[in-house]
This record gives sequence, C-alpha cells and structure tokens, in this order.
Amino acid sequence: MPSSLKLPCNSPSTLVATLSPFFNPLPHCFEILDFCFKGTPGVTGAVMWDSGVVLGKFLEHAVDSGMLVLQGKKIVELGSGCGLVGCIATLLGSEVIVTDLPDRLRLLRKNIETNMKHVSLRGSVTATELTWGEDPDPELIDPKPDFVIGSDVVYSEGAVVDLLETLMQLSGPNTTIFLAGELRNDAILEYFLEAAMDNFTIGRVEQTLWHPDYCSNRVVIYVLVKK
Ligand SMILES: C[S@@+](CC[C@H](N)C(=O)[O-])C[C@H]1O[C@@H](n2cnc3c(N)ncnc32)[C@H](O)[C@@H]1O
Repeated sequence: MPSSLKLPCNSPSTLVATLSPFFNPLPHCFEILDFCFKGTPGVTGAVMWDSGVVLGKFLEHAVDSGMLVLQGKKIVELGSGCGLVGCIATLLGSEVIVTDLPDRLRLLRKNIETNMKHVSLRGSVTATELTWGEDPDPELIDPKPDFVIGSDVVYSEGAVVDLLETLMQLSGPNTTIFLAGELRNDAILEYFLEAAMDNFTIGRVEQTLWHPDYCSNRVVIYVLVKK
C-alpha cells in the first residue's frame, strides 16, 4: 500500500470490503454508496480502481472547498466501470451521463439503481453506451459537456487513438477534462500525453488540491482542455 494512501484501496479486493454495506468507514459521499463488483474478478470494469476513488474524492473535495462548481453542470464519464465516480458527481449536483462498453452497462445500471434510488438527488444520472472512437449519441455532445471525467481509462496503448478521438468529439471550448491515471505503466501514459498534446493543453492537478485523506503516489490526475 502506498505510504500516502490512507484508505485500503490498493487492490480491487480490499475495495470490495471497504465499500461493502456492512463495513463502510469512508466518509461523506461514500457513506451512502453500496457498490456491486460482481463479475469476473480482475476483469476491467467489474472492479473499482484506486484512481476512481481518488478522482471521486478529489471532485468532492474541490466542491466542498469552493474550487469547483458542479451543481447543474453536464458531466460525461468515460469507461465508468462500476460507476462510483459518476455517482459521486451526481451527489454533488451534476447532470451526469455515465458511459461504457455495451457489455458493461448492466452492472453499471444496477449500481446506479442501487445507490441513487433512495437518496434525494441534487443532480441526475443516466447510463449510455459509448465505445471510444465510435460516434457518440447526440445526447452526449449536444450540448457539449462542461466536464468529461474518467479514471483508469489510459491503460492500453491500442485504445489511445480511439480515446483521444472521443475526447475531441466530446470537447467544446468550455469543456474541462479530468483524467485520473494509475502509474502502473509509464510508457502508456507517456504515449497518451504525447499524442494528446497535439490537440489539448494538458496540466497536472497538484496533490495539494486533492482530498487530503485520499492521496496516492501511484495515481495522477490530469486536466485537459481543447486547444
Ligand atoms: C480499468 S477500468 C476503469 C473503470 C472505472 N473507471 C474505475 O476507475 O474503476 C477501464 C474502463 O474502461 C472501459 N473501456 C475500455 N475500453 C473501452 C473502449 N474502447 N470504449 C469504451 N470504454 C472502454 C472498460 O470497460 C472499463 O470500464
């Protein structure tokens, strides 16, 4: 476990315990969330990754500290997996569309249904199919989202071109992209950043701006805006 990480989210299996309804020590948004990780263990999209926890808590902290206003903002989440980050954004007041590959939508919708039906929502959330590199549904791009978010979506070199095409399609002049990445393969992240630089201005969100209890030296948060 990284020394700076204060929650046991170093592996998908510990996260299952952390977020179970019977043992849930995580404060604020996490208190009411009950995520299902059923599926083949280790299959991407069926487990929750550290970068998702870090990104969700960063958004929460940014809103709580007045750095970011998400109330009423349109957010599209890419590669939502279990849907934790999208649900947190919904609780923070955003109009969220969580997206993933067609065969991941069942679990995603189940998690949204489970977690969002009993709370009085400040925002809204729907799930839609979006395969990177393919034409997005009109609802995703009209109007362009205020924010595009994604955690651990840069992990395969073969998907980088398609992912960047989707980021271009979703981005308007007022769109901000937050991508949280896992530092498990520097080469892929570097490849992504180099390719992204053609069309995006890229910055790194300093750890001092993250939720102080949810920092990890193995996660990085990038902010991108279209040039
Ligand atoms: C490592 S998982 C991360 C899931 C989630 N964001 C998290 O942090 O736990 C990567 C996600 O990207 C999705 N994904 C992978 N390739 C994709 C593609 N070509 N188009 C759309 N989604 C894709 C996967 O289905 C999966 O949900």
